[in-house]
Amino acid sequence: MDILALHLSPRKNGNSAVMLDEFVKGARSAGACTVSFSVSDHVIKPCQGCGSCEATGDCVISGDDMGGLYPLLAAAPMIVVSTSLFFYDVPALGKALIDRTQPLWSRRYALGQTETLRPEGKGFLLALGATKGKDLFLPVGLCIKYFFDSIGFPRHFDSLFFRQIEGLGGFEKDPDRLRQVYEAGLAFGNMRAGAGPQDRN
Ligand SMILES: Cc1cc2nc3c(=O)[nH]c(=O)nc-3n(C[C@H](O)[C@H](O)[C@H](O)COP(=O)(O)O)c2cc1C
Repeated sequence: MDILALHLSPRKNGNSAVMLDEFVKGARSAGACTVSFSVSDHVIKPCQGCGSCEATGDCVISGDDMGGLYPLLAAAPMIVVSTSLFFYDVPALGKALIDRTQPLWSRRYALGQTETLRPEGKGFLLALGATKGKDLFLPVGLCIKYFFDSIGFPRHFDSLFFRQIEGLGGFEKDPDRLRQVYEAGLAFGNMRAGAGPQDRN
């Protein structure tokens, strides 16, 4: 796997899903191998804040799909996150996923396991919302910054934001947006380790 594609919004085939699909298309056309994980297809229980992971580095919650996601997060050299905004931030299902990375945070910040740092990791954030305020994407940018930090990636990442997108089919209406996202995916795919000059369109 070169890129893990995380969809953090609950609506299957909604705008942020379409946006992520287009990004993945671009990345794949650059030769990248991608794995997708959408919160709408999985059960993720919320963090209880019990603090156990600060002592053990592991989560006490079992019986949901985070068990399958932790190895993907650990193996992925590059991660793209796609989300719509719910009250200025990641929707609750996606936020549950982010909160459940606290054991990974704990391993480094509470238990001092600095080998879990992945300075070569590359992140990308795709986000969209219905409104258009100047600061619309500030909260989600911070949330994803510390998500990447939690999993050991650098806090810096590239991003694309789209305002005034609402209703099913809202994203596909504008071919320019689709092209922008596809090209961002293509460029991201070309940043993977081992991408040869032949992959660089
Ligand atoms: C519960 C809820 C809260 C929302 N909050 C915001 C918001 O704070 N800012 C915004 O611009 N859009 C907000 N929206 C609109 C969605 O972000 C927008 O419709 C988006 O296109 C939905 O994308 P999706 O199909 O991927 O879910 C909200 C929508 C819902 C359902």
